[in-house]
Amino acid sequence: MGKCIGVLTAGGDSPGLNAAIRAIGKSANTAYNMQVIGFRDGFRGLMENRTLHLEGEVLSGILTLGGTILGTSRDKPHKMPVGSKVQDMTEVMIDNYHRHNLEALVCIGGGGTQKNAYRLAQAGMNVVTLPKTIDNDVAMTDITFGFDTALSIATDAIDRLHSTAHSHHRIIVVEIMGHNTGWLGLGAGLASGADVILIPEIPYDVHQVADAIKRRRHRGKNFSIVAVSEGALAIEDARELARLKQKKQAANDEKKQKKASAALEAFQDNHAGSTLRLSAQLEHLTGLESRVTILGHLQRGGTPSAADRILATRLGSACVAAIDERQFGCMVAVKGESTTLVDLSEVVGKRKMVPLDHPWIRAALETGACLGNHL
Ligand code: F6P
Repeated sequence: MGKCIGVLTAGGDSPGLNAAIRAIGKSANTAYNMQVIGFRDGFRGLMENRTLHLEGEVLSGILTLGGTILGTSRDKPHKMPVGSKVQDMTEVMIDNYHRHNLEALVCIGGGGTQKNAYRLAQAGMNVVTLPKTIDNDVAMTDITFGFDTALSIATDAIDRLHSTAHSHHRIIVVEIMGHNTGWLGLGAGLASGADVILIPEIPYDVHQVADAIKRRRHRGKNFSIVAVSEGALAIEDARELARLKQKKQAANDEKKQKKASAALEAFQDNHAGSTLRLSAQLEHLTGLESRVTILGHLQRGGTPSAADRILATRLGSACVAAIDERQFGCMVAVKGESTTLVDLSEVVGKRKMVPLDHPWIRAALETGACLGNHL
């Protein structure tokens, strides 16, 4: 066997991870005569040198499996909890990278993983990344794998909520993942015909939402589905968040920075209950009974869709081709029908939000959905 490449999966798991691992392993072994070593549990496994050889039977039968056979974690190389301390373990990772005589390290993950991979690239490793996340928020790629599956799961769930909302003449507020972006919420809301769709990109006015529900009632529709992204904010909360972020940016000494970070954390903790609060407000403003469904991690579990399997397989094999050509410090991105390599410096520190002129927003508005604020 020739060269050896390392692979790890980091951040929240996402359907299609095993399809990507399989594609990297099979392409490397058969088309490029390379060996592949997997590191377990994200960057932590690279630090602790916990490995799994990705070949033969290990790669067999995993295409359809959810999760990741390598395990994952949200540990960061430069801020790794070790014992009772948080330490920068980059040097230990570099030692392990050399111990296996790796030609390159493939890091599969979302925005946070792209950032951590970039740090390792700057520290001297040959790094190539793949974009995965159900949130679809990684910059410089048209799409991330995991998104399509999560979209189908969320859509199916909202379809099921429709009949019970209808039978009981209730509002059902359904919370959809997506971190601070609305791709999943908007997509699932649109696909399931939700009456109200609230996303982080459009801070909402609860009175406009209540009015839309009341108008439906006047038309004889005594139920409403409100699809709300977990990161959606009421207008006043969006203002407060912007103020806190600005304060943190302006903090010019350690004490002020700590105080500003604590205030931001408190805001985020408080936001965790915002879907329940929204439901209570709507009940109060409309006089209709309201229930909440939080889809949570269901959206990340189980078998990947055909589209995610194909996407992960394409990206996995394109990544081995890039390594063979000694193209490093880049992410394998999707551009239209093909894949392309994007320098990691262009990916990190950015988040792909839903543009306000996106066709999905227009379609939602033109088919009568309320987006919580007049655009
Ligand atoms: O990034 C994927 C994601 O599922 C987000 O949609 C969500 O905010 C977050 O991960 C949940 O993280 P955890 O699995 O750590 O609770």
